[in-house]
Amino acid sequence: MEYQFLLVKPNVRPGVTVVQINRPKELNALNRTVMEEIGAALTAADADEACRCVVLTGNERAFAAGADIKEMADASAVEMLNRDQFARWEIIRKTKKPVIAAVSGFCLGGGCELAMLCDMIVASESAQFGQPEVNIGVMPGAGGTQRLTKAVGKALAMEIALTGRFFPAQKMLEAGLINRVVPTELYFQEAIKLAEEIAQKPPVAVRLIKESINAAFETHLDEGLMRERKNFYLLFATEDQKEGMAAFVEKRKAEWKGK
Ligand code: HXC
Repeated sequence: MEYQFLLVKPNVRPGVTVVQINRPKELNALNRTVMEEIGAALTAADADEACRCVVLTGNERAFAAGADIKEMADASAVEMLNRDQFARWEIIRKTKKPVIAAVSGFCLGGGCELAMLCDMIVASESAQFGQPEVNIGVMPGAGGTQRLTKAVGKALAMEIALTGRFFPAQKMLEAGLINRVVPTELYFQEAIKLAEEIAQKPPVAVRLIKESINAAFETHLDEGLMRERKNFYLLFATEDQKEGMAAFVEKRKAEWKGK
């Protein structure tokens, strides 16, 4: 598939697909086409058997500086409703394979929400996170008030969204939003390394672990625990569970089949 604003590279390392947002002059602002293309690229990655993990990234200066303000500036509420832009975000949310955000530079507004939709965030020490929508008279709309609050707690989420200030990666690491902060020249490499490690794990187990952990965020605890338990039982129907446990007992390396 041809993309206007993405560079997609399957199998940069075994099982790892890279999806790079490529709208550098606009600091990777997320217009409708960008969101549509990210949804399409992740749907394709889900369907690609060779892909086990995705790294979603921007460039050193910006992961994404938010939803495209110019595209929204003149829209009425009814126009925004009819555009139904969140349908595209839902496609991203429903991706079954793990997605790691490799973040450097500006990670703001919808850009921060996009990173939070991913399963893990690896950041460069120059990354800056924020929800500056308040500064342009709106508010986070793609899950920011929910996911940020769950990740960093009420006090800091309030400060981030009510002041619109940018917060350095190190602060976000301490707050629990991101997995690690590394020197800028290493953040992409570090995300690939993490993806490569996950790509070697049994794919059915990986898929169900992701689904179960997300259930902790998206459902009440009882329902989340029930889903976790059912998925746990379901894994016992896979050859990989048999192989994995046998390999442990026999002190050898497991060979995963994805079945
Ligand atoms: C459209 C954007 C943009 C955005 C930057 N640009 N962010 N265009 N939408 N979100 C464009 C600028 O207009 C400019 O284009 C070019 O990118 C470079 O940006 P500068 O401002 O010249 O760069 P700099 O001075 O370094 O400032 C960087 C910045 C600033 C601090 C990140 O650009 C900024 O504040 N951007 C907006 C951040 C924001 O408010 N994000 C939230 C958006 S609302 P030209 O053509 O002028 O050179 C949102 C809601 C999500 O995300 C709701 C769910 C979908």
